[in-house]
Amino acid sequence: MQLVNTINDLRQIVKQWKIDGLEIGFVPTMGYLHEGHQSLIKRAVSENDRVVVSIFVNPMQFGPNEDLDSYPRDLDCDIDICKQESVDLIFHPQVSEMYFNDFSTLVDMSGLTDVLCGKSRPNHFRGVCTVVNKLFNIVDADRAYFGQKDAQQLAIIKRMVRDLNIDIEIIGCPIVREEDGLAKSSRNTYLNEKERQAALILNRSLMIGQKLLSDGERNAEKIINAISENINREPLAKIDYVDVVDSLSLKKANNISSSCLVAVAVFIGKTRLIDNFIFEI
Ligand code: PAJ
Repeated sequence: MQLVNTINDLRQIVKQWKIDGLEIGFVPTMGYLHEGHQSLIKRAVSENDRVVVSIFVNPMQFGPNEDLDSYPRDLDCDIDICKQESVDLIFHPQVSEMYFNDFSTLVDMSGLTDVLCGKSRPNHFRGVCTVVNKLFNIVDADRAYFGQKDAQQLAIIKRMVRDLNIDIEIIGCPIVREEDGLAKSSRNTYLNEKERQAALILNRSLMIGQKLLSDGERNAEKIINAISENINREPLAKIDYVDVVDSLSLKKANNISSSCLVAVAVFIGKTRLIDNFIFEI
Protein backbone atom coordinates (compact mmCIF):
# COMPACT_ATOMS: atom_id res chain seq x y z
CA MET A 1 0.00 0.00 0.00
CA GLN A 2 1.27 3.45 -0.89
CA LEU A 3 0.82 6.56 1.25
CA VAL A 4 0.82 9.65 -0.97
CA ASN A 5 0.74 13.29 0.15
CA THR A 6 0.89 15.21 -3.10
CA ILE A 7 -1.47 15.55 -6.05
CA ASN A 8 1.39 15.08 -8.52
CA ASP A 9 2.52 11.78 -7.01
CA LEU A 10 -1.04 10.49 -6.97
CA ARG A 11 -1.56 11.46 -10.60
CA GLN A 12 1.59 9.61 -11.72
CA ILE A 13 0.37 6.41 -10.11
CA VAL A 14 -3.22 6.70 -11.35
CA LYS A 15 -1.97 7.48 -14.86
CA GLN A 16 -0.12 4.15 -14.95
CA TRP A 17 -3.18 2.28 -13.62
CA LYS A 18 -5.24 3.80 -16.44
CA ILE A 19 -2.64 2.83 -19.06
CA ASP A 20 -2.85 -0.72 -17.65
CA GLY A 21 -6.64 -0.64 -18.12
CA LEU A 22 -7.40 -0.98 -14.38
CA GLU A 23 -10.69 0.22 -12.84
CA ILE A 24 -10.36 2.51 -9.85
CA GLY A 25 -12.63 2.76 -6.81
CA PHE A 26 -12.45 5.77 -4.51
CA VAL A 27 -13.54 6.21 -0.88
CA PRO A 28 -13.31 9.82 0.34
CA THR A 29 -13.04 10.13 4.15
CA MET A 30 -11.91 12.46 6.90
CA GLY A 31 -10.07 9.61 8.61
CA TYR A 32 -10.42 8.16 12.11
CA LEU A 33 -11.73 5.16 10.24
CA HIS A 34 -14.32 2.84 11.78
CA GLU A 35 -16.44 -0.04 10.52
CA GLY A 36 -18.73 2.35 8.64
CA HIS A 37 -15.81 3.54 6.50
CA GLN A 38 -14.53 -0.02 6.36
CA SER A 39 -17.78 -1.25 4.78
CA LEU A 40 -17.33 1.31 1.98
CA ILE A 41 -13.71 0.25 1.52
CA LYS A 42 -14.64 -3.47 1.42
CA ARG A 43 -17.25 -2.80 -1.25
CA ALA A 44 -14.79 -0.71 -3.27
CA VAL A 45 -12.13 -3.43 -3.04
CA SER A 46 -14.62 -6.06 -4.20
CA GLU A 47 -15.74 -4.03 -7.23
CA ASN A 48 -12.50 -2.45 -8.53
CA ASP A 49 -8.95 -3.38 -9.56
CA ARG A 50 -7.42 -0.58 -7.48
CA VAL A 51 -8.78 1.36 -4.48
CA VAL A 52 -7.85 4.84 -3.30
CA VAL A 53 -8.90 6.10 0.16
CA SER A 54 -8.49 9.80 0.84
CA ILE A 55 -7.98 11.01 4.40
CA PHE A 56 -8.44 14.74 4.59
CA VAL A 57 -10.16 16.77 7.30
CA ASN A 58 -11.55 19.44 5.02
CA PRO A 59 -11.56 22.83 6.79
CA MET A 60 -13.95 24.29 4.23
CA GLN A 61 -16.88 22.16 5.40
CA PHE A 62 -16.60 23.14 9.08
CA GLY A 63 -18.45 26.19 10.42
CA PRO A 64 -16.66 28.75 12.64
CA ASN A 65 -18.06 27.21 15.84
CA GLU A 66 -17.69 23.60 14.79
CA ASP A 67 -15.18 20.92 15.75
CA LEU A 68 -12.43 21.33 13.11
CA ASP A 69 -9.63 21.58 15.68
CA SER A 70 -10.87 18.78 17.90
CA TYR A 71 -11.94 16.46 15.06
CA PRO A 72 -10.40 13.06 15.98
CA ARG A 73 -7.34 11.93 13.99
CA ASP A 74 -5.24 8.76 14.11
CA LEU A 75 -3.30 8.24 10.89
CA ASP A 76 -1.37 5.18 12.13
CA CYS A 77 -4.57 3.35 12.98
CA ASP A 78 -6.13 4.42 9.64
CA ILE A 79 -3.09 3.04 7.80
CA ASP A 80 -3.45 -0.31 9.60
CA ILE A 81 -7.14 -0.55 8.68
CA CYS A 82 -6.45 0.30 5.04
CA LYS A 83 -3.64 -2.28 4.86
CA GLN A 84 -5.93 -4.87 6.42
CA GLU A 85 -8.57 -4.12 3.76
CA SER A 86 -6.04 -4.30 0.87
CA VAL A 87 -6.37 -0.64 -0.07
CA ASP A 88 -3.81 0.24 -2.78
CA LEU A 89 -3.26 3.89 -1.99
CA ILE A 90 -4.02 6.38 0.78
CA PHE A 91 -4.13 10.00 -0.33
CA HIS A 92 -3.37 12.17 2.70
CA PRO A 93 -2.72 15.75 1.59
CA GLN A 94 -1.96 18.74 3.81
CA VAL A 95 -4.43 21.61 3.72
CA SER A 96 -1.86 23.67 1.76
CA GLU A 97 -1.72 20.95 -0.91
CA MET A 98 -5.49 21.15 -1.42
CA TYR A 99 -6.07 24.90 -1.09
CA PHE A 100 -3.94 27.72 -2.49
CA ASN A 101 -3.82 30.80 -0.25
CA ASP A 102 -5.89 32.65 -2.84
CA PHE A 103 -8.22 29.73 -3.57
CA SER A 104 -11.40 31.31 -4.95
CA THR A 105 -13.58 28.75 -6.75
CA LEU A 106 -16.49 27.14 -4.93
CA VAL A 107 -19.03 24.51 -5.93
CA ASP A 108 -22.40 25.62 -4.66
CA MET A 109 -25.81 24.01 -4.95
CA SER A 110 -29.27 25.36 -4.28
CA GLY A 111 -32.32 23.51 -3.00
CA LEU A 112 -30.92 20.25 -1.68
CA THR A 113 -28.44 22.08 0.51
CA ASP A 114 -30.97 24.39 2.19
CA VAL A 115 -32.85 21.70 4.13
CA LEU A 116 -32.05 19.21 6.94
CA CYS A 117 -28.37 19.63 7.98
CA GLY A 118 -27.97 22.55 5.58
CA LYS A 119 -30.27 24.67 7.75
CA SER A 120 -28.12 24.49 10.86
CA ARG A 121 -24.79 24.11 9.02
CA PRO A 122 -24.76 26.95 6.48
CA ASN A 123 -21.99 26.56 3.87
CA HIS A 124 -21.24 23.01 5.05
CA PHE A 125 -22.35 21.41 1.79
CA ARG A 126 -20.57 24.05 -0.27
CA GLY A 127 -17.39 22.87 1.44
CA VAL A 128 -18.30 19.23 0.84
CA CYS A 129 -19.17 19.77 -2.85
CA THR A 130 -16.01 21.78 -3.44
CA VAL A 131 -13.65 19.26 -1.85
CA VAL A 132 -15.37 16.20 -3.34
CA ASN A 133 -15.26 17.82 -6.77
CA LYS A 134 -11.54 18.50 -6.31
CA LEU A 135 -10.92 14.95 -5.10
CA PHE A 136 -12.85 13.53 -8.06
CA ASN A 137 -10.66 15.61 -10.41
CA ILE A 138 -7.51 14.52 -8.64
CA VAL A 139 -8.22 10.78 -8.31
CA ASP A 140 -10.08 10.28 -11.61
CA ALA A 141 -11.80 7.12 -10.34
CA ASP A 142 -14.46 5.02 -12.06
CA ARG A 143 -16.58 4.65 -8.93
CA ALA A 144 -16.88 6.50 -5.61
CA TYR A 145 -18.44 5.12 -2.44
CA PHE A 146 -20.52 7.10 0.06
CA GLY A 147 -22.48 6.07 3.16
CA GLN A 148 -26.23 6.36 3.55
CA LYS A 149 -25.40 7.53 7.09
CA ASP A 150 -24.92 10.98 5.54
CA ALA A 151 -28.04 10.66 3.41
CA GLN A 152 -28.19 14.34 2.45
CA GLN A 153 -24.52 14.34 1.45
CA LEU A 154 -25.11 11.27 -0.75
CA ALA A 155 -28.13 12.88 -2.47
CA ILE A 156 -26.15 16.10 -3.01
CA ILE A 157 -23.11 14.33 -4.46
CA LYS A 158 -25.35 12.36 -6.85
CA ARG A 159 -26.98 15.62 -7.97
CA MET A 160 -23.62 17.37 -8.37
CA VAL A 161 -22.26 14.53 -10.52
CA ARG A 162 -25.38 14.62 -12.67
CA ASP A 163 -25.50 18.41 -13.00
CA LEU A 164 -21.80 18.87 -13.72
CA ASN A 165 -21.44 15.78 -15.96
CA ILE A 166 -18.70 14.27 -13.83
CA ASP A 167 -17.76 10.88 -15.26
CA ILE A 168 -17.97 8.79 -12.10
CA GLU A 169 -20.46 6.29 -10.70
CA ILE A 170 -21.70 7.12 -7.19
CA ILE A 171 -22.47 4.11 -5.03
CA GLY A 172 -24.44 4.46 -1.77
CA CYS A 173 -23.74 1.97 1.02
CA PRO A 174 -25.96 1.05 4.01
CA ILE A 175 -25.50 2.49 7.52
CA VAL A 176 -23.26 0.40 9.77
CA ARG A 177 -24.37 0.39 13.42
CA GLU A 178 -23.03 -0.60 16.82
CA GLU A 179 -24.65 -3.72 18.27
CA ASP A 180 -27.10 -1.59 20.24
CA GLY A 181 -28.20 0.34 17.14
CA LEU A 182 -26.16 3.56 17.38
CA ALA A 183 -24.92 4.53 13.91
CA LYS A 184 -21.11 4.37 13.84
CA SER A 185 -19.52 7.80 13.64
CA SER A 186 -16.12 9.33 14.31
CA ARG A 187 -17.98 11.83 16.51
CA ASN A 188 -19.25 9.08 18.85
CA THR A 189 -15.84 9.34 20.58
CA TYR A 190 -16.96 12.71 22.00
CA LEU A 191 -19.70 11.00 24.06
CA ASN A 192 -19.18 10.19 27.75
CA GLU A 193 -20.77 7.05 29.19
CA LYS A 194 -24.10 8.67 30.02
CA GLU A 195 -24.29 10.43 26.66
CA ARG A 196 -23.38 7.22 24.83
CA GLN A 197 -26.42 5.56 26.44
CA ALA A 198 -28.62 8.60 25.70
CA ALA A 199 -27.52 8.54 22.04
CA LEU A 200 -29.53 5.36 21.53
CA ILE A 201 -32.59 7.61 21.43
CA LEU A 202 -31.91 8.50 17.78
CA ASN A 203 -32.21 5.00 16.36
CA ARG A 204 -34.94 3.96 18.80
CA SER A 205 -37.09 6.96 17.88
CA LEU A 206 -36.53 6.39 14.16
CA MET A 207 -37.78 2.83 14.65
CA ILE A 208 -41.06 4.25 15.94
CA GLY A 209 -41.39 6.18 12.67
CA GLN A 210 -40.49 3.09 10.69
CA LYS A 211 -43.20 1.09 12.45
CA LEU A 212 -45.81 3.79 11.74
CA LEU A 213 -44.86 3.80 8.04
CA SER A 214 -44.93 0.00 7.88
CA ASP A 215 -48.39 0.07 9.46
CA GLY A 216 -49.57 2.37 6.64
CA GLU A 217 -49.29 5.87 8.11
CA ARG A 218 -48.63 8.36 5.28
CA ASN A 219 -49.04 11.67 7.10
CA ALA A 220 -45.50 13.05 7.52
CA GLU A 221 -46.50 15.37 10.38
CA LYS A 222 -47.73 12.46 12.48
CA ILE A 223 -44.48 10.59 11.91
CA ILE A 224 -42.38 13.65 12.74
CA ASN A 225 -44.40 14.24 15.93
CA ALA A 226 -44.12 10.65 17.11
CA ILE A 227 -40.34 10.64 16.59
CA SER A 228 -39.89 14.07 18.18
CA GLU A 229 -41.97 13.20 21.24
CA ASN A 230 -39.87 10.13 21.85
CA ILE A 231 -36.58 12.00 21.48
CA ASN A 232 -37.82 14.66 23.88
CA ARG A 233 -38.26 12.00 26.58
CA GLU A 234 -34.45 11.78 26.77
CA PRO A 235 -33.22 14.61 29.04
CA LEU A 236 -29.74 14.78 27.44
CA ALA A 237 -31.16 15.10 23.91
CA LYS A 238 -31.96 18.33 22.12
CA ILE A 239 -33.53 18.09 18.67
CA ASP A 240 -31.90 19.99 15.80
CA TYR A 241 -34.39 18.59 13.28
CA VAL A 242 -36.72 15.69 12.62
CA ASP A 243 -37.92 15.59 9.02
CA VAL A 244 -39.51 13.50 6.31
CA VAL A 245 -38.47 14.38 2.74
CA ASP A 246 -38.48 12.83 -0.71
CA SER A 247 -35.38 10.65 -0.84
CA LEU A 248 -34.09 12.06 -4.14
CA SER A 249 -35.20 15.71 -4.25
CA LEU A 250 -35.09 16.17 -0.45
CA LYS A 251 -38.29 18.20 -0.83
CA LYS A 252 -40.67 18.12 2.11
CA ALA A 253 -43.08 15.21 1.91
CA ASN A 254 -46.47 15.99 3.47
CA ASN A 255 -48.48 13.04 2.28
CA ILE A 256 -45.93 10.35 1.64
CA SER A 257 -46.46 8.80 -1.80
CA SER A 258 -42.93 7.94 -2.93
CA SER A 259 -39.73 6.72 -1.28
CA CYS A 260 -38.98 9.02 1.61
CA LEU A 261 -36.01 9.81 3.80
CA VAL A 262 -36.77 10.10 7.50
CA ALA A 263 -33.85 11.94 9.05
CA VAL A 264 -32.93 13.32 12.46
CA ALA A 265 -30.15 15.46 13.90
CA VAL A 266 -29.95 15.57 17.68
CA PHE A 267 -27.54 17.15 20.12
CA ILE A 268 -26.53 14.75 22.86
CA GLY A 269 -24.86 17.16 25.22
CA LYS A 270 -22.58 19.15 22.93
CA THR A 271 -22.27 16.43 20.30
CA ARG A 272 -24.48 16.66 17.23
CA LEU A 273 -25.43 13.22 15.90
CA ILE A 274 -27.39 12.28 12.78
CA ASP A 275 -29.29 9.19 11.76
CA ASN A 276 -31.92 8.24 9.18
CA PHE A 277 -33.71 5.54 7.27
CA ILE A 278 -35.24 5.34 3.83
CA PHE A 279 -38.76 3.99 3.49
CA GLU A 280 -39.38 2.56 0.04
CA ILE A 281 -42.89 2.74 -1.38
P1 PAJ B 1 -16.50 11.05 6.89
O1 PAJ B 1 -17.41 11.57 7.92
O2 PAJ B 1 -15.15 10.56 7.28
O3 PAJ B 1 -17.25 9.87 6.13
C1 PAJ B 1 -16.69 9.25 5.01
C2 PAJ B 1 -17.73 8.32 4.42
O4 PAJ B 1 -18.05 7.28 5.36
C3 PAJ B 1 -19.05 9.06 4.09
O5 PAJ B 1 -19.52 8.66 2.81
C4 PAJ B 1 -19.97 8.59 5.21
O6 PAJ B 1 -21.34 8.60 4.85
C5 PAJ B 1 -19.45 7.18 5.45
N1 PAJ B 1 -19.87 6.69 6.77
C6 PAJ B 1 -19.61 7.27 7.97
N2 PAJ B 1 -20.20 6.56 8.96
C7 PAJ B 1 -20.85 5.53 8.38
C8 PAJ B 1 -21.66 4.46 8.87
N3 PAJ B 1 -21.91 4.31 10.17
N4 PAJ B 1 -22.16 3.59 7.97
C9 PAJ B 1 -21.90 3.74 6.64
N5 PAJ B 1 -21.16 4.72 6.12
C10 PAJ B 1 -20.64 5.61 6.98
O7 PAJ B 1 -18.38 12.31 4.93
C11 PAJ B 1 -17.25 12.76 5.02
O8 PAJ B 1 -16.25 12.16 5.74
C12 PAJ B 1 -16.80 14.04 4.31
O9 PAJ B 1 -17.89 14.92 4.21
C13 PAJ B 1 -16.19 13.79 2.90
C14 PAJ B 1 -17.20 13.14 1.95
C15 PAJ B 1 -14.94 12.91 3.01
C16 PAJ B 1 -15.78 15.15 2.28
O10 PAJ B 1 -14.87 15.80 3.08
